[in-house]
Amino acid sequence: MTSPAPSPLAYVPFVSVENMMRLVNAIGVEPFIAELAGFIEEDFKRWPEFDKTPRVASHSAEGVIELMPTADAENYGFKYVNGHPGNMREGYQTVTAFGVLSSVANGYPLLLTEMTVLTALRTAATSALVARYLAPQNSEVMAMIGNGAQCEFQALAFRALLGVNRLRLYDIDPEATRKARRNLTAQGFEVVSCRSGEEAVEGAQIITTCTADKQFATILTDNMVGAGQHINAIGGDCPGKTELHRDILLRSDIFVEYPEQTRIEGEIQQLAPDHPVTELWQVMRGEAAGRRDDKQITLFDSVGFAIEDFSALRFVHAKVQGTDYAQRLDMLADPDDPRDLFGMLERSRS
Ligand SMILES: NC(=O)c1ccc[n+]([C@@H]2O[C@H](COP(=O)([O-])OP(=O)(O)OC[C@H]3O[C@@H](n4cnc5c(N)ncnc54)[C@H](O)[C@@H]3O)[C@@H](O)[C@H]2O)c1
Repeated sequence: MTSPAPSPLAYVPFVSVENMMRLVNAIGVEPFIAELAGFIEEDFKRWPEFDKTPRVASHSAEGVIELMPTADAENYGFKYVNGHPGNMREGYQTVTAFGVLSSVANGYPLLLTEMTVLTALRTAATSALVARYLAPQNSEVMAMIGNGAQCEFQALAFRALLGVNRLRLYDIDPEATRKARRNLTAQGFEVVSCRSGEEAVEGAQIITTCTADKQFATILTDNMVGAGQHINAIGGDCPGKTELHRDILLRSDIFVEYPEQTRIEGEIQQLAPDHPVTELWQVMRGEAAGRRDDKQITLFDSVGFAIEDFSALRFVHAKVQGTDYAQRLDMLADPDDPRDLFGMLERSRS
């Protein structure tokens, strides 16, 4: 006897890496990021509606594994994500992720999806969205220090949302810069490869730091940052893992996603626990000021927050419904009689 086919309720739509790439390529990377940024902005503007908690992090000598949950009245979402700066040397990626979106009403998952590619897209979308509120008007040149997996996505997001088309790249590993330059030149960017961080920031209105190191690093020193620049600092995102010299923080107006998490993980872990910061959702709602003048140094102390992943899950869910981008995964046990789970197991024995 073979067990009966799973019932419709057993299936959860699943987006594989292959299908995520098909979806992104069908929409186009820049339009995808622009549309996703709209979802993120929409969710930031309704910030009080969400359950929020700093992510649950499990640290080891090699890296971190994190769970990032949040929920509104309708949906619950979480992402599983790791960060292992030494992985690259073994042929593994620094960051990989997957996530789930569920119905709050009955707790059933509505979507299971790869989120490694999606995290790069959502991080880039968030960075560029934030820069629309903070970067100098008509920014044209962006320095990018750290040319690994996130780099090209960041560049495409800043072009899609702000029109930035000139890039100055630096990485301690010249091979990473060569890779990024090749990819970005093919995308039509004007790219300059630099021999140092100092050279990279010359003439840039925006500085993106996107390095991976499991220690306090100093990617930017105080003398490298001038009046009016916007810093998009995405690599300092764990206790003991930062990119900016403390003096830069003291000269900057600092903007964060969720202070309770950023004070543990962000650049501001170097500052007093009551150092003033501005929450981005309030800027987006017009309740707090973004950039006020052209001399101000603005800093987005990015760590990545669960609501950005929730927006990304919501976005992908909307895009894949009723399409072949989602496969049906037999993931939920669904006995005919909801209480007869054991009977279902018994009947499945041949
Ligand atoms: N804030 C967020 O939401 C968010 C999201 C995703 C990733 N991240 C973080 O962004 C960082 C980059 O991620 P990735 O996936 O691109 O990693 P990656 O390992 O692919 O790339 C990191 C690059 O940084 C370079 N680098 C390391 N130290 C450097 C230094 N001192 N100067 C210049 N370059 C240096 C490395 O050579 C490498 O090319 C990681 O720290 C990751 O944890 C943050």
